[in-house]
Amino acid sequence: MATTDTLVRIALDERSYDILIGSGLLGRAEIYDGLPAGRDALIVSNTTVAPLYAERLADALSGRYARVQTVVLPDGEVHKDWPTLNLVFDRLLASGCDRKTVLYALGGGVVGDLTGFAAACYMRGVPYVQVPTTLLAQVDSSVGGKTAINHPAGKNMVGAFYQPLRVVADIDTLASLPPRELAAGLAEVIKYGPIADAALLDWIETNLDALLARDAAALTHAIKRSCEIKAEVVGADEREAGLRAILNFGHTFGHAIEAGLGYGVWLHGEAIGCGMVMAADLSARLGLIDGAYAARIEAIVRRAGLPVAGPRLGAGRYLELMRIDKKAEAGEIRFVVIEAPGRAAVRAADDGLVAQVIEAHTA
Ligand code: NAD
Ligand code: GLY
Repeated sequence: MATTDTLVRIALDERSYDILIGSGLLGRAEIYDGLPAGRDALIVSNTTVAPLYAERLADALSGRYARVQTVVLPDGEVHKDWPTLNLVFDRLLASGCDRKTVLYALGGGVVGDLTGFAAACYMRGVPYVQVPTTLLAQVDSSVGGKTAINHPAGKNMVGAFYQPLRVVADIDTLASLPPRELAAGLAEVIKYGPIADAALLDWIETNLDALLARDAAALTHAIKRSCEIKAEVVGADEREAGLRAILNFGHTFGHAIEAGLGYGVWLHGEAIGCGMVMAADLSARLGLIDGAYAARIEAIVRRAGLPVAGPRLGAGRYLELMRIDKKAEAGEIRFVVIEAPGRAAVRAADDGLVAQVIEAHTA
């Protein structure tokens, strides 16, 4: 078994796996010990990340596989789609890759979600490993087995639950991340406080400057704690029968922003940050939390460098987009709300009240 200073385990019976978190992991061959070896590994990456890290990963894997290839996808949320997914299948088939081939997702959440879906589908399922290189992917998307591509009508609408064999989160990769992307990742870190761990929000408030300065100890703590919370939730509800939906705090509003503006105009984390401000305000208007707690969440989101006012699409358009959300039931929109600091629930809300929230938080 690979070793690292920081390890979080996802307990899912025969689908259990480890998240390795630390510095310099990506290029160390022993980090991949215990994973299936064989003829083929395919690294799936994109035009931004591959030039930075693919060779290092390929070198580390070279002792385990006879062939290590890299397929380089176009970069961006707008490419999380069928034609890009097909580029992965094209390469696998053109190279005669069999069902023992192991895919390695090297990149942010877009590459991770798309590679996971490709792995779920190719020859009805091949193993894959997540090697996340954005903060967002290290704290959220690489963990838990949600894989998907977008449909023009809705975000992540076509996908599968399919767990990776391991997650290798090398914090050194965060050094090359643009500041806007770092902030986007912080949105998903902030998320875990209100929904699951009130003390984490206190810690973030105190350590936000260190996180923005990419302090290694602060980042490692944030990633570890985020993964621990996600591991607990996913371990209890892998396929989102109930509890797992709390991980979507801010996502109902956020996905509407992403789909409404067109994918990639706002970063996913930016939309989620703003969506959390809206969802916190909705929780306050529903009388679940006091306005001060909602204001505190807004202040942290703002300090992280994220937008706190959504685009003026009009309340009607937001509501229309939110009805396509995966949590909607028979056309009724359902929101993740905060019931108390560190505790979330899913519930419906009156359209008029939601419209008030949207009016108050769009500019
Ligand atoms: P992303 O994958 O688009 O990456 C952001 C940008 O950073 C891209 O341009 C990428 O090429 C670049 N990049 C990546 N690593 C880099 C590095 N180390 N140095 C420099 N540039 C780097 O976006 P993201 O924020 O990582 O992920 C967002 C996606 O994740 C969305 O599609 C969202 O739906 C999905 N998501 C999925 C889950 C899940 O549970 N599966 C959870 C949250 C988000
Ligand atoms: N990011 C939401 C989930 O993994 O369930």
